[in-house]
Amino acid sequence: MPGRPVAAPAASKPTARRTASTPRRRLNGVKLITQRTCLRRKYIAPSRGGLVPPARSLAANVDTRRQPTEGVSETAATATAAATEAGEAEPTVVVDEVSKHYTVGSRVTALDGVSLTLPTGSYTAIMGPSGSGKSSLLNLIGGLDTPSSGHVAVDGKSVSTASEDERAAIRGTDIGFVFQTFNLMPRLTAVENVALPLVFDGWSRADRIDRAVDRLEAVGLGDRTDHVPSELSGGQRQRVAIARALAPDPALILADEPTGNVDTDTGATVLDIFDELHAAGNTILLVTHERHVAERADRIVHITDGEIGSIEATGEA
Ligand SMILES: Nc1ncnc2c1ncn2[C@@H]1O[C@H](COP(=O)(O)OP(=O)(O)OP(=O)(O)O)[C@@H](O)[C@H]1O
Ligand SMILES: [Mg+2]
Repeated sequence: MPGRPVAAPAASKPTARRTASTPRRRLNGVKLITQRTCLRRKYIAPSRGGLVPPARSLAANVDTRRQPTEGVSETAATATAAATEAGEAEPTVVVDEVSKHYTVGSRVTALDGVSLTLPTGSYTAIMGPSGSGKSSLLNLIGGLDTPSSGHVAVDGKSVSTASEDERAAIRGTDIGFVFQTFNLMPRLTAVENVALPLVFDGWSRADRIDRAVDRLEAVGLGDRTDHVPSELSGGQRQRVAIARALAPDPALILADEPTGNVDTDTGATVLDIFDELHAAGNTILLVTHERHVAERADRIVHITDGEIGSIEATGEA
């Protein structure tokens, strides 16, 4: 897969994304979600207003059994075939027998043969003790790291075998990452931070700024676009980070303890934003230590010592 150009040669992509006929959703009173939602509507059976995929009963698509490591992708193939048979879209994420070992002095096994499928439009929470492998799993799905063995695919693209440049391109277009520590660029304003991932997607500067302002308005920060992170509260920074994750209209939103560093009220706002993204058809994977946060998802994946122990359907499932 060729890397995408870093420079923005033309504005054709954003223009194509934002035609007058493109349907829009509203988030916190602001228009949101354009072409991605439009594309999903082609593939996803309408329910709840015609936009929300039938994701609530999909826990069965998750395969926690240990599989033999030879003949890669038995789990992936099974999950994909089941989805196709059921007339559903291909899963947004397939994690197939993934292990991750680190060697710092002694060898640490962060993940040990994890298989997990995220159907398109599903909302999954991961819980587990500190050091159990939650962030490691998110980082592998998000292409920030590569597995020691096994396979990860996002939106049909192999993340685990991609080169660093290719993974950067996938991250820039298909994956929105929300970190507990925000990871904003300190010298850039809010709007510049949000616009940053669009560089990888070939947007012109004018269109990047336009989209970034749109996304900041969507999270209630339309009046803070020119503030640098040090001029924002913790909760506002987290909302900038969410706006940045949403900027490229990603297939998948990954959030590592997004409410971990914000107060209760801001945490509630953040969770409301995720609820609305879910309702709009986005696929969400969220790591949390807080039970009430996890219960907002369709299902909770419990990880212990690098292995999936159980998968719990929440009350809403
Ligand atoms: N870059 C690394 N080098 C070496 N060991 C690592 C590295 N990253 C993680 N580990 C180890 O892998 C294990 C899993 O770490 P991970 O960050 O995935 O845990 P976690 O479940 O996210 O924990 P927490 O809830 O504390 O954030 C831990 O034992 C950790 O020490
Ligand atoms: Mg962690």
